[in-house]
Amino acid sequence: MNVCVVYGTERKGCTWHIAQEVLSRLPEAEVSEFFLPRDCPDSCVSCFRCFNEENRCYCSQGARRILDAMLRADVILLTSPVYALHVSGQMKTFLDHYCGMWMVHKPNGAMFGKQGLVIASAAGPVYHAALREMKDSLDFWGVARTYKLGFALMEISWDRLSPALKQKIARQAERTAAKLRQGVNGPGLKARMLFYGIRLAQKYVWKDSPDGKWWRDHGWLGKERPWK
Ligand SMILES: Cc1cc2nc3c(=O)[nH]c(=O)nc-3n(C[C@H](O)[C@H](O)[C@H](O)COP(=O)(O)O)c2cc1C
Repeated sequence: MNVCVVYGTERKGCTWHIAQEVLSRLPEAEVSEFFLPRDCPDSCVSCFRCFNEENRCYCSQGARRILDAMLRADVILLTSPVYALHVSGQMKTFLDHYCGMWMVHKPNGAMFGKQGLVIASAAGPVYHAALREMKDSLDFWGVARTYKLGFALMEISWDRLSPALKQKIARQAERTAAKLRQGVNGPGLKARMLFYGIRLAQKYVWKDSPDGKWWRDHGWLGKERPWK
């Protein structure tokens, strides 16, 4: 198994420790890691080329390098601490680079065979928006199935977490690692519903746009599907 991890902070704090709880239970996995903002410091410059040309980022070398790693991976793991109720600014900046490959535009067929995992930690019980923000991108990239792990820590230091909370994190990490090891046989219900809903729009509404052409050229408006 190949796992690509994108950490929404360079701080090896609570969120990093939670990710290690999962990764340590996948000892067979080959892991490539990227830390934000270090590995993708650029913001989207709204050049629109990812929408109008190929589904790649033209303005950030970091975003292209991380996309290559995500495309090689079986599992894409995104993490973020909660800042002001949402993902960190650097995670949002990172995700902006891939809007051109959202399913409503030009999805990359390889995404439909991958699994995703999103991890967020907050001081209070407010991690849901951050999980959703990361999962939205994975869902719209076409990732077959994405799991969520969110924790309200009531603390800001991993060392000060109670043994009971650390055990809870370990149990959920174990369950998630077991699911990831099982793999997927094609996209789940949500990914299929998104694909077929957007396919209708590409076929009948956006058929003359660059996105409609992308779908037609890949055969997805006919009998071809981006999964086996
Ligand atoms: C700038 C900043 C904003 C934060 N905003 C929130 C917040 O809105 N709600 C919350 O519960 N915790 C908030 N926190 C606390 C962090 O989400 C929490 O400590 C998290 O576990 C940090 O993860 P880390 O240890 O991986 O950096 C904030 C922390 C920082 C530094």
